[in-house]
Amino acid sequence: MVNQFGLIRTPRILFGAGQLAELPGLLRNRGRRILVITGSRSYMLYPGIGKIMLRLQKEGFTLHFDRVDREPSPAEIDRIADRYRRLELGLLIAIGGGSVVDTGKAVSSMLPLEGSVRDYLEGVGTKTHPGIKTTFIAIPTTSGTGSEATSNAVLAETGINGYKRSLRHENLVPDMAIVDPELTRSCPPNLTASSGMDAFTQLVESYLSVKANPITDTLALEGISKIHSCLEKAVKHGEDMEARTGLAYAALLSGITLANAGLGLIHGFASSVGGLFNVPHGVICGTMMGVVNRYNIKALLKQDGTSRAHHKYESLGKLLSGTTGKNRQWYLEFVADYLDSLIEKLQISRLGGFGISASDLDRIAEITDNKANPVKFEKGELVGMLKERL
Ligand SMILES: [Fe+2]
Repeated sequence: MVNQFGLIRTPRILFGAGQLAELPGLLRNRGRRILVITGSRSYMLYPGIGKIMLRLQKEGFTLHFDRVDREPSPAEIDRIADRYRRLELGLLIAIGGGSVVDTGKAVSSMLPLEGSVRDYLEGVGTKTHPGIKTTFIAIPTTSGTGSEATSNAVLAETGINGYKRSLRHENLVPDMAIVDPELTRSCPPNLTASSGMDAFTQLVESYLSVKANPITDTLALEGISKIHSCLEKAVKHGEDMEARTGLAYAALLSGITLANAGLGLIHGFASSVGGLFNVPHGVICGTMMGVVNRYNIKALLKQDGTSRAHHKYESLGKLLSGTTGKNRQWYLEFVADYLDSLIEKLQISRLGGFGISASDLDRIAEITDNKANPVKFEKGELVGMLKERL
């Protein structure tokens, strides 16, 4: 039986190598004044972007440029929104990694409003965002966060009272996403690995989520099979465009599934650890992926085996092992072993390298949200998980 479910909208999606070249044609009936937000090294890394911008200027568009070089803070969003609010921009384009796309998403949603974005952040502000924004096009240059298809932007304030919180409204989904895997060609191996592990985590967590539905399940399994066949290849052979394309597709799917089904405990850690310490999001996800899933699996194996999560881990085991006919426990244990070995092969960093020590773990566990994880854990178990990845 198919239970009740809902889906939020996706952007208009243009996917495939070379699709960036379609951008000028898509803007014909749009406002002539455009804000372009990029990463600090975007023009150097992706020569195609400069050519497209020149073409837009020749066609009469007025372009304004801003750059960001880190995960966006509320102050950074306020700075950019205050600077461009009075210019009556017709459009905002963000070209870069997840942080750049999140910056674009948050700025587009603050341009029509006054005040600070802090006021609208989940768990920080008291106001509800009205869901209005400047038209926004997301063009990712990494395969990871899936932000090009999600309804939230993650903003970070790091430090002793740090936090990572979302600005969220279903209308904040970008109007258009141009996912051109050519733009990921020069992404270095370590960033390809950590971003890819972020996408993998998002797919697995939304698949296992207590809020999953039949459509997100189908898309998540499709994405996981692409991660399985493409992630290691894309890390080892960055020029392999078939692998790059598979990874970009998986990341896009992960954005759609997480926007609809939510995430699990690993992303709970991503918020708590990432708020207190300067650790890249993909590294936190990648480093916690094995241990959290092993704890999930151990807890499920103690139960009677009838839960939905138990069956889903079995399906994951079949997909990742390419076998059938084993017993359920074998498949669950295969998933945990597979993840540990992948993390090892991709050389995902441990948390200790980022200044986190045993004395910090209580504080991290205290503020870690279980999110839509299929198993609930006590604080001591969260500390145990973190300890394994110090
Ligand atoms: Fe993520």
